[in-house]
Amino acid sequence: MVKSRPYVILSAAMSIDGKLATRTGRSNLSSKKDLVRVHKLRKTVDAILVGKNTINVDNPLLTVRYVKGKNPIRVILDSKGSLSSKSKVIRTAKQIPTILVVSENAPRKVERFVAKGVGVIRCGKNKIDLKKLLKILGKKGVKRIIVEGGGTTNWYFFKEKLVDEIAITVTPYVLGGNTAISLVEGDGFREIPNSFKLKKIEKIQNEIVLHYVS
Ligand SMILES: NC(=O)c1ccc[n+]([C@@H]2O[C@H](COP(=O)([O-])OP(=O)(O)OC[C@H]3O[C@@H](n4cnc5c(N)ncnc54)[C@H](OP(=O)(O)O)[C@@H]3O)[C@@H](O)[C@H]2O)c1
Repeated sequence: MVKSRPYVILSAAMSIDGKLATRTGRSNLSSKKDLVRVHKLRKTVDAILVGKNTINVDNPLLTVRYVKGKNPIRVILDSKGSLSSKSKVIRTAKQIPTILVVSENAPRKVERFVAKGVGVIRCGKNKIDLKKLLKILGKKGVKRIIVEGGGTTNWYFFKEKLVDEIAITVTPYVLGGNTAISLVEGDGFREIPNSFKLKKIEKIQNEIVLHYVS
């Protein structure tokens, strides 16, 4: 079936017990080899999307660094436009295309990011309308997109049934903690939803990478 929206790959590294980070927000779970794999994947997509908390906690660059390749457009979900302008993604926005997605009700001051080279998309009244966002990104030429978390963002994508493929690295740690962020946060499904189909399992030394498709 031809989809009118970009193909969505949800990618994450989690502990054996399904956590994305420790309760203090430490999330560097992947080995160097796995990071190389992730960066190879990043260079095949047109955009990479994360939620605001991931920027605030990890301050990632979201670029292709471990292999040679073009950087995807960075897309950040931040309905209130409250991101710090000191974050690396904002500071490097003149060199690497970066889009901040805010709601229609976000304060006008979000336009301050435009002067820093950031594109601003207003989409959805109070919450970000992901289906609409994917359509807008599609019109900008985005055909493939990686969603790289965190758990809250992942939930919105699963909830809206917008995930076409999952690539999850199971890393050799048990982190525990009921406040530690899990692979998928949010309200959760009431009933068991449609299953994903296992496409491939890769073993990378101490880690396994699970590939599922919808
Ligand atoms: N191990 C890994 O692979 C990995 C990857 C990424 C992140 N992490 C970890 O995950 C943690 C952060 O996860 P998190 O669940 O707290 O947050 P998150 O998903 O990074 O960000 C969530 C925030 O993004 C905004 N947002 C996301 N989707 C939205 C939507 N559809 N509509 C409106 N707003 C939306 C909301 O903020 P507003 O309501 O203010 O807009 C929401 O609170 C960090 O500790 C990070 O280290 C780990």
